[in-house]
Amino acid sequence: MSSLLALARPDILELQPYQHAAWDPSHERMHANEMPWRAQGDNSDAGLNRYPEPQPRALVERMARLYDVPASQLLVGRGSDEAIDLLVRAFCRAGIDSVVTCPPTFGFYKVAARIQGAAVIEVPLRGEDFLLDTRGVIGAGARAKIVFLCSPNNPTGRLLDEPDILAICRALEGRALVCLDEAYLEFSGRASLASRIGEYPNLVILRTLSKAYALAGARCGTLVAAEDTVALLKRIIPPYAIPSSTVEDVLRLTEAPQQAISAERIRTILEERERMRLRLANMPSVLQVFDSDANFLLVRFRDARSTLEAGKSAGLLVRDFSTAPRLEGCLRISIGTPEQNERLLAAVERA
Ligand SMILES: Cc1ncc(COP(=O)(O)O)c(C=O)c1O
Repeated sequence: MSSLLALARPDILELQPYQHAAWDPSHERMHANEMPWRAQGDNSDAGLNRYPEPQPRALVERMARLYDVPASQLLVGRGSDEAIDLLVRAFCRAGIDSVVTCPPTFGFYKVAARIQGAAVIEVPLRGEDFLLDTRGVIGAGARAKIVFLCSPNNPTGRLLDEPDILAICRALEGRALVCLDEAYLEFSGRASLASRIGEYPNLVILRTLSKAYALAGARCGTLVAAEDTVALLKRIIPPYAIPSSTVEDVLRLTEAPQQAISAERIRTILEERERMRLRLANMPSVLQVFDSDANFLLVRFRDARSTLEAGKSAGLLVRDFSTAPRLEGCLRISIGTPEQNERLLAAVERA
């Protein structure tokens, strides 16, 4: 057994996976208890009366090209949220195993672990710059099954240092998976670490179409990992996880012209991020604007509550982190259209 599979839950390794109806488009389907006719008005390509292909080949190949990784290293799911959930389920025994998170960070790592009954060891990011506590993470990771890292990190916005991430992978090889969530990578200008999976077999990368590709509603996330890990997760992903409407939308909306538009919009978001950063930094109500490599800014206000209300009265919601540890007074502002950004800036100025 590979050192990766040795980390998995023994009962999952022994599990007989659900046998879904064979996927064989060369035959007509009388084997999946579907209706033989489409619903009235169903104009989809595949027909919504039919179950979708498990791990649809066309979608997997599109994601493999988009992220420049071999299709065999890739699992597609309903958002990276599903990938986080599958990882925790496959590797953590309830009441026995743990995961490591580095707060302040994306909240779902902890929630997914708790749902599975796994403990959460927190190794906070260090100092005002929210840097990785590499030694602390390695120490905690040696007692855990999965280390969750997020780069650029939500909600702080900064990239984590690549040498630190790789040092953690190296130190924990054979002991824990290192799940690097790159949900916001496209806004950072940095290349994905997915190309390093061959050298670091315990590295798992998460990518999503929800941010840079403007497809949050389609629910499509991709996990990239060593083939053993991908094969294990395929055993537990629910039978027909990806709706055929998602497959059709994603194939249509990630063609070359959409990719070019996406790149152009990312440039606009980055310009707007910088414009907002400068404007906010000069406002008396603002204590600190944190540097960002993502499509949002974390901002510390003198009075977060009244700023939040000012945003609302201008019809705009921003995310309140003001009561979270280390984020006192902080709000997270997603960069919007230039008009929305201007409206928010005006409201904050008035507040
Ligand atoms: C860091 C991070 N990871 C994952 C997700 C979830 O992404 P998805 O829409 O692919 O499930 C989010 C959503 O905000 C996020 O901020």
